[in-house]
Amino acid sequence: MKKRIAVLTGAGVSAESGLGTYRDNGGLWDNYDPMEVASIEGWYRDRAKVLDFYNMQRRHLREARPNGAHLAIAGLEKDYIVDVITQNVDNLHERAGSTHVVHLHGEVTKVRPENSCNEEDGFSEKSVFDIGYDEVRLGDKAPNGVQLRPHIVFFGEAVPKMEQAMDLVSKADVVLIVGTSLSVYPAAGLYRYASSDARIFIIDPAEVPLFDRRIVHIRKVATEGMKDFAGML
Ligand code: OAD
Repeated sequence: MKKRIAVLTGAGVSAESGLGTYRDNGGLWDNYDPMEVASIEGWYRDRAKVLDFYNMQRRHLREARPNGAHLAIAGLEKDYIVDVITQNVDNLHERAGSTHVVHLHGEVTKVRPENSCNEEDGFSEKSVFDIGYDEVRLGDKAPNGVQLRPHIVFFGEAVPKMEQAMDLVSKADVVLIVGTSLSVYPAAGLYRYASSDARIFIIDPAEVPLFDRRIVHIRKVATEGMKDFAGML
């Protein structure tokens, strides 16, 4: 039977595709206040500003291509059952060929009416739809007449896919973490659901806060680190 790998990714896996990370020097949060452009309070305060921020991200994503790390992760499917659990809102894992990707923080290429996918409807994704790389403006409405919002988990909102992610991590024989500062909870705590006999690896050029002695830190950028990881499997 094939072994299972859970791959937990963050902005660092897409850095070599030209997409900026959030917390590195010169990262997105150096130039934008996350509470203004990526929080639920920010959305209610100034929807146009939030829509513009995600319009910009869609424009950047249109120009980006999957890099060697996305491709190597997709390639693991030849020999393993691979669950990619990403904090990223880009679609580079899918474009590299990964077939099972859980987006913890949503997807920038999708939108939904602002009154949907919440506690009231059990986080139903029925009214979520794809807009590709198009812009969304204040006044753009869903078929139900309600303002469209990005299909993103804003700061201050629940992370509905956490349970599914915890389950996938707990079943994995190998947990691989790539390019995340592990600073945003609950996603940052996911690797702690790894079973006691799972092997855990992290690929990141920087120091990261880790609470498990088992973890092997491959201190390299994602494309290079994935080559080392392949040799250690
Ligand atoms: P961060 O920007 O917090 O962390 C990026 C990590 O990637 C850092 O640890 C870097 O050292 C590492 N890194 C940089 N370049 C790399 C490379 N070429 N290869 C590998 N690693 C590299 O991004 P996340 O941890 O993904 O959420 O941030 C988590 C969440 O915070 C995001 O999903 C987003 C953000 O606010 C929301 O907006 C809800």
